[in-house]
Amino acid sequence: MLTTTHKLFFKDARNMEHVEDQSVDLVITSPPYPMIEMWDEQFCGMNPAINANIDCGDYNGAFEAMHQILDGVWHELWRVMKEGAFACINIGDATRTINNKFQLFANHARIQRKFQKLGFDTLPLILWCKQTNAPNKFMGSGMLPAGAYVTLEHEYILIFRKGNKRQFKTAESKLRRMQSSYFWEERNTWFSDLWDFKGVRQGTDNKELRNRSAAFPFILPFRLINMYSLIGDQVLDPFMGTGTTMLAAIAAGRNSVGYELDESFAPTLQALTINSLSDLQKVNLDRINNHLAFVQSCEAGSKELKYVNSYFGFPVMTAQEKELEIVFVRQIERDGDRLYRASYFEDHFVKSISPEDLSLDHFAPEGFHQGCLSFD
Ligand SMILES: C[S@@+](CC[C@H](N)C(=O)[O-])C[C@H]1O[C@@H](n2cnc3c(N)ncnc32)[C@H](O)[C@@H]1O
Repeated sequence: MLTTTHKLFFKDARNMEHVEDQSVDLVITSPPYPMIEMWDEQFCGMNPAINANIDCGDYNGAFEAMHQILDGVWHELWRVMKEGAFACINIGDATRTINNKFQLFANHARIQRKFQKLGFDTLPLILWCKQTNAPNKFMGSGMLPAGAYVTLEHEYILIFRKGNKRQFKTAESKLRRMQSSYFWEERNTWFSDLWDFKGVRQGTDNKELRNRSAAFPFILPFRLINMYSLIGDQVLDPFMGTGTTMLAAIAAGRNSVGYELDESFAPTLQALTINSLSDLQKVNLDRINNHLAFVQSCEAGSKELKYVNSYFGFPVMTAQEKELEIVFVRQIERDGDRLYRASYFEDHFVKSISPEDLSLDHFAPEGFHQGCLSFD
């Protein structure tokens, strides 16, 4: 039976002494964004000299000093990541008006340079489009040229790889890789360099919490985990916040480790983890239902799907999807304050139900669903 463990450390990720060298298969994270005001206090707490930079209007100095704090974490990533592991860093640039001068601080470029210096290979990145329709989104001189500024409506997901391509030499790793494959139609959406989650279930809908924690939507780490790791792998988020990466790792059957400086997130994280069982099942049920809808649309268009998935028995587009499995978490247990264990339904249980009939009722006694993430 598959089980996964999820370890939390409320510590500074510039020293991840509890994570062994070369033990991490995938990093997914979003750091505090330098030069975005909501993070000034935290950065200044880690380096009081930044306060002085800001006070005397040396914003380029502040920008660099904030990034030097993040650099400490990027150094640790190089140590803990395995050869061939991916790192996906969600970051937005910052705009700020200083001494009446409007300026962009290109966080993504500064982080990219640092990763390159550390030895990572830069891979094509994803632009996460976050359009806003707010009427006050435009900045500058309104309808008068030449003094208005385009609105930042995107963030980056920077993608790096440490060293050579990951090797899958043993029979076990080859099989696990095939079981962790994704659907052809998922590949077509996920591997676009433009992501727009409009109309996609996103994760916790608690707006106040999202704003305070700058949490990314659940779908973001969930996709990346499925794209860049295998079932049973180890995923690290050094800036864990509300634990979205950990929840996505649980849903996808991966182990995880998270670091977070601010211990006040502990109760939120605990509540989210313990109460989101049915939500985490539902995201996987959605994958199956979306695939069944895709199969139907192919049949309606007389497009032939040549292969059959051996786990669910439904048609799939390519031979690579034949061994694809989707895991369903059965239980999440807390072991002390800092450790969660997830166990999953046995293969034979999932296989015993026709995919068309699978519903949350199969995974919870008497149809009881205790959800606390709202995905709609
Ligand atoms: C943008 S938020 C991450 C949000 C997270 N992705 C989520 O979905 O909730 C960045 C987090 O990094 C934490 N942080 C900042 N510096 C840190 C450090 N040196 N070590 C560990 N955590 C840190 C902050 O407290 C904050 O919660």
